[in-house]
Amino acid sequence: MIALILMLACDGGTDDGTDKAPVDTATTDTTDAGTTDDTDSTATDDTGAALDPFCDDAPVVTWENWGEGFMVERCSSCHAASSAERNGAPDAVNFDTHDEAVALSDRVLARTVDVGDMPPSGGVTADDLYLLEVWLSCWEDPQPGTGVNDGDDSTPDPEEDDEPYLSDDTDVDLPSFDAEAVGAALGAAMTDARQISAVPVVAGYFEATAGMDETCPGWLNFDGTEYWYDYCTTLDGTTFDGYGAHVLFEDYPLGDGNYWDGYQISSLGSVTTPAGDVFEAAGAAYVLWTEASDGGLIYQSYVEGGFSYDGPAAAGTWLEDNLSPTLSTYAIAYPGFGPGADDGNAIVLSGQVLVEDASVAAVVFEELFIYDETLGSPCPSEPDGMISVLNTSGVWVDLVFDGGQWGEAVDPAVCDGCGSAWYQGNLLGEVCADFSGLTDWGTNPWE
Ligand code: HEC
Repeated sequence: MIALILMLACDGGTDDGTDKAPVDTATTDTTDAGTTDDTDSTATDDTGAALDPFCDDAPVVTWENWGEGFMVERCSSCHAASSAERNGAPDAVNFDTHDEAVALSDRVLARTVDVGDMPPSGGVTADDLYLLEVWLSCWEDPQPGTGVNDGDDSTPDPEEDDEPYLSDDTDVDLPSFDAEAVGAALGAAMTDARQISAVPVVAGYFEATAGMDETCPGWLNFDGTEYWYDYCTTLDGTTFDGYGAHVLFEDYPLGDGNYWDGYQISSLGSVTTPAGDVFEAAGAAYVLWTEASDGGLIYQSYVEGGFSYDGPAAAGTWLEDNLSPTLSTYAIAYPGFGPGADDGNAIVLSGQVLVEDASVAAVVFEELFIYDETLGSPCPSEPDGMISVLNTSGVWVDLVFDGGQWGEAVDPAVCDGCGSAWYQGNLLGEVCADFSGLTDWGTNPWE
């Protein structure tokens, strides 16, 4: 059971960018309201006009390079032949293959782009809605005879992106690289990154907006989501400027067999409390948690955009530190696990965090995964995945770590807490860091 959950954790991240977070309902419904609308009006071309400007500028989107991943991510929990819990989705409506998906393209566009009620939880980002529309209306069943991108479905060669580390280019000027300084900065950044979550953003939002009353702010409904949209001051002196929305989750099924609690907010604007504390937001954040049937405590968080707050709810949290994270976190704890009754911990991080250090300015995690000895990791001192490091002279270096995925055997020789550092296909050296900040956290990753 543990294995299953952890595999879900890793899978969940395998092909998702931060913009494909599982539950960003309100993001689409509110923040992106304008964008979605615009896309719709240009794109939905019921007349079937021969030269569709929408498709002329459109990127190449195919089943192979995007569609399949999107379907797996957003639809297959209910719409796959192998789905364990279809949640009432019709037996005949599956998106396992290109042909199945394309056969229903009209319905997919109708439900996901036009009406927006598939998936039922919503949350498809404006970017994904755009790509879905481009894929199905420009690259599939290309309106016969119109010639719109007809016949040219050349897919960018995936190999090119998959092998960034093989280069024969010996002419690259290698940047100077202080592996030791980078390693030290990384160690500190691990604890910071692990502690970042949407919790203070959500708490700050609710604290700052607590003064809302019948007079202010005014509310609108967009696609079923209520959001405030106003510039006004309440009777108690709270000033609202912009818009915002929130969603509460209670026993919410995410399709992974667990029932989740949590909160999500999205907002663009500011709220000033009667005490003069200012909550400023331009983005979305959510936090979800659940207890699995085997006792695992699972946490998810997603923060994207800029947030700041100087009220009590932000005190002592990362919100005070100007880290501008775009980060998604999936963490699991097994309290008192195994013979030693230690807390078992595992975490997956994706996204970007700024670092305040003389040599490192920012780090980007790509599916960085690590689990501890308590949960049986053969390599608890090293994560698996990539960390890209931006140094203070603006050079990106990629660090590749081989701690192994869940249950994977790891050659003890590579399990040394060190990763190889690459710059444009050239090996720069080795960076060793202390990753214990990612796994030593007991039962709550954010404390
Ligand atoms: C949580 C489960 C769930 C997920 C996830 C989900 N669906 Fe559905 N889907 C349903 C259910 C239930 C129905 C039948 C009820 C209905 O039509 O509203 C359905 C019906 C459909 C239908 C057939 C009805 C029609 O209007 O033609 C289509 C097409 C569809 N879904 C597309 C999608 C697409 C595309 C996605 C992903 C972007 C998706 N669904 C994700 C549960 C889901």
